[in-house]
Amino acid sequence: MPEQVITNADLERRVETSDKWITTRTGIKERRIAAEGEYTSDLATRAAMQAIERGGIRPEEIDLIIVATITPDMPFPATACLVQHKIGAHRAAAFDMEAACSGFIYAMEIGQQFIMSRTYNTVLVIGAEKLSSIVNWEDRNTCVLFGDGAGAVILQNRANAHGLLTACMGAEGDKASLLSMPGGGSRCPATVKSVNAGLHFLRMDGKETFKSAVNAMCTAGQEAMRRCNIDISQIKCVIPHQANRRIIDAVGERLGATPEQVFVNVDRFGNTSAASVAIALDEVVQTGRITRGDLILLVVFGAGLTWAAAVIEW
Ligand SMILES: CC(C)(COP(=O)(O)OP(=O)(O)OC[C@H]1O[C@@H](n2cnc3c(N)ncnc32)[C@H](O)[C@@H]1OP(=O)(O)O)[C@@H](O)C(=O)NCCC(=O)NCCS
Repeated sequence: MPEQVITNADLERRVETSDKWITTRTGIKERRIAAEGEYTSDLATRAAMQAIERGGIRPEEIDLIIVATITPDMPFPATACLVQHKIGAHRAAAFDMEAACSGFIYAMEIGQQFIMSRTYNTVLVIGAEKLSSIVNWEDRNTCVLFGDGAGAVILQNRANAHGLLTACMGAEGDKASLLSMPGGGSRCPATVKSVNAGLHFLRMDGKETFKSAVNAMCTAGQEAMRRCNIDISQIKCVIPHQANRRIIDAVGERLGATPEQVFVNVDRFGNTSAASVAIALDEVVQTGRITRGDLILLVVFGAGLTWAAAVIEW
């Protein structure tokens, strides 16, 4: 996580909002913001180096790097290539993958498929975002929700290891307009007019996104458990995408999880999009909340709309 903390009180000084509104409507108390000159590839590199160290591997062993992000350092080259250079993973292929907040599970599943097909042995999957670079800091509807950060995992073909048991993914392209950044692509390249119209900022229909999120995450979570032939009582920890405390609570309740099963850190980090469940996964491991053999259920949704769920045996 970047070091700089922006509290709700800080936001009260920027836009017409209040700690009370943000806390009751979202559960967010503070978020981290990258420093000037600190980019998505820097956050991704830090997370990658920690994963490499804890996984006990060398950068040269990595065959493939996938970075899930909607805030790459630049449209091209891929942020994954910048990370490859920074960590010295000379042998690795590298590309970025965009499925918004669902990106980390999408990227893990892609990595897993390369391993199962025996194409690659070691895959580095990173979720990394500098959302502060696309948030309109004058729009109270969105600026209170997002933060920056990164998380990473190493997937490797190891004897007696389990890891990702299943992942299911989907999309509802008819809802693409609910959450988007209209400017900067081929449809609307950057011009003085597009910048003045604020088209290079993230836009969202919060209410509609909320409804779709809860439905999609519950369906995905149930499907992932069905495929593994398990029920919620066998899951040690549910990690939902950390977008809004009310969404997290509704998903936990509809999946039949107890509050103790559901992991929450949205209060400290806000919504970090593709990095969100990766950061949460690291926290549940580092705090000893899960140990080897425990089952974890990840459920996510994001712009697209995209959704996904995964069951991991740690
Ligand atoms: C954005 C969200 C928090 C808004 O909560 P909500 O309960 O739906 O609130 P509403 O949209 O009904 O807004 C209620 C009022 O609060 C106002 N408001 C919005 N942001 C505000 C803020 N930061 N501070 C104070 N008031 C605010 C609105 O302008 C609106 O005022 P009005 O009634 O006078 O028009 C919520 O819809 C949400 O979390 N949606 C999902 C977003 C999400 O997860 N996106 C990421 C997808 S990966």
